[in-house]
Amino acid sequence: MTSNIRPETMERITTPALAEAFIAEQIAAVREQVGDKKVLLALSGGVDSSVVAALLIKAIGKQLVCVHVNHGLMRKGESEDVIRVFGEELDANLIYVDATDRYLDLLAGVAEPERKRKIIGEEFIKIFDEEAAKLEGISFLAQGTIYPDIIESKGVKAHHNVGGLPEDMEMELVEPVKLLYKDEVRVVGEALGLPHAMVYRQPFPGPGLGVRCLGAITRDRLHALREADAILREEFDKNGLNHVWQYFVAVPDFKSVGVRDGKRYEGWPAIIRAVNTVDAMTATIEEIPYAVLHRITDRITHEVEGINRVCLDLTPKPIGTIEWE
Ligand code: XMP
Repeated sequence: MTSNIRPETMERITTPALAEAFIAEQIAAVREQVGDKKVLLALSGGVDSSVVAALLIKAIGKQLVCVHVNHGLMRKGESEDVIRVFGEELDANLIYVDATDRYLDLLAGVAEPERKRKIIGEEFIKIFDEEAAKLEGISFLAQGTIYPDIIESKGVKAHHNVGGLPEDMEMELVEPVKLLYKDEVRVVGEALGLPHAMVYRQPFPGPGLGVRCLGAITRDRLHALREADAILREEFDKNGLNHVWQYFVAVPDFKSVGVRDGKRYEGWPAIIRAVNTVDAMTATIEEIPYAVLHRITDRITHEVEGINRVCLDLTPKPIGTIEWE
């Protein structure tokens, strides 16, 4: 196993040529480490696990088994993208688990944010364990650990991430990008041919839309949130705003009165939040042009069933956190 300390002499990977060299090096190292054994990877579709998957597919092909758990709290189209890119285009050994009902049943009536997070995290471990138990001859566990995970949380992938894996899984780790910073992982991802949108996607919390569907999650409000969030992302893309660090919709669990087609129409508000930050410890507000805000408001209130108002959150961090819960 390689050291967890980045050598001072290690050159920052900033160009495709440097990425190619890194990839070739890692392919050789992974082949040497795993031989003809099988490797298991929890593939969330996030940048880090996607880059590790693409790298390992190149190195060991079908010896890599990817498990993608859809907890039903993904953004619109995300699980479909994982299936398309990894299952179809890269022809990976991909196990897709649609655990939507399981999660939403467990989360029904649970309003307390930390309790929601705990349920989502624990269920992920259970499902991953169940899938691993069905497989034979798995000797290694691959992880998208990156260097900040090592520095900030002693090697545990994203301290509050759903990506936490069963501690009692006694498998040797394969962590090909553990000495890289996020920007380097992205350069490597592009060199591996992953879609730009996947490699440069904004951060998305492990518990997904679960922390943005405020209070106790219901299927109808979760659906409205997902649709509103998709509209926001589409309009940010169209209007050249997708450089913004993180932008999303949160939907609280109360309704207000409105009017639609001349009739009283009660609906939830969609709260828009768009922030810029370097390290997520502090954040400033992106100044979205009013014309874009009008367009987003118009689309969300007309296209999304159940939403009748759009509000904009102008609170920096501190005093607000980035997420609402
Ligand atoms: P906050 O809300 O604490 O968020 O200002 C800082 C960054 O962390 C992300 N975040 C999470 N990520 N699991 C995660 O994997 C979580 O429970 C979680 N909560 C917040 C948030 O999206 C932001 O980028």
